[in-house]
Amino acid sequence: MPDPRPVGVFDSGVGGLSVLKEIRRVLPCEDIIYYADSAYCPYGARSPAEIVSRSLRICDFLLGQGSKALVVACNTASVAGLDVYREKYGVPIVGMEPAVKPATAATRNGRVGVLATSVTLSGDRFSSLLERYQNGADVYSQPCPGLVELVESGCHDGREALEMLEKYLAPLMERGVDTVVLGCTHYPFLKEAVKTIVGPEVAVIDTSEAVARQVCRVLAGHGLENPGGREGREVFHTSGDPLAVGAVIKKLWGGSPVVMHTPL
Ligand code: DGL
Repeated sequence: MPDPRPVGVFDSGVGGLSVLKEIRRVLPCEDIIYYADSAYCPYGARSPAEIVSRSLRICDFLLGQGSKALVVACNTASVAGLDVYREKYGVPIVGMEPAVKPATAATRNGRVGVLATSVTLSGDRFSSLLERYQNGADVYSQPCPGLVELVESGCHDGREALEMLEKYLAPLMERGVDTVVLGCTHYPFLKEAVKTIVGPEVAVIDTSEAVARQVCRVLAGHGLENPGGREGREVFHTSGDPLAVGAVIKKLWGGSPVVMHTPL
């Protein structure tokens, strides 16, 4: 039996749209409810306790809207409390983590750089990722305050983004990394700029595609898929200004997105 209920997806803001794009590609018929917690963005500047509390409110909202599964399309919110969300709710929850495992498997010179928020990089989940998958490689972490705000303001393709990235990538390039991990869902919108700076010899990887495949597997594994019929729809909610957030969603997502103001 197809399950027509929506999949709930959230992030601190518009970053999770990079994951949503991949989900849409592999699951064209699923309805999606997306929550952008723009009034509380960036999460990277908040305490883990506050991020968990916001995430729980958002999960409650998405489940109240009838979601059959949740996707935490945010590394920071996943690192802060994925186990808490999974323990509390009875639906499958897919989270994110920086792509350390594929990066340390792919590096040729054993040097990997990870760009992420400071909450992600200082969390236990990240330390445990390193313990499990460092694989003898040198992994250099680089927090990037300010980048999320640039993407949120729709300025991911401007001069300012390039300059900020140059500053954050310089220490990694000095260490000779040949692989750079985009460990925040906002950063794939900066991927072309990152590639321009690091050049063709450095691989730039993120986890959106892998997460989308995992969503597919999880829905199939729980008998929750909606495989056929009409094209899936997206509805966007934000705690921020729906006009400003809507303009950025339109720029990053395309089409004429329906964006509702839903403070939580
Ligand atoms: N997009 C988020 C992540 O993947 C959160 C960034 C933030 O709000 O600081 O970490």
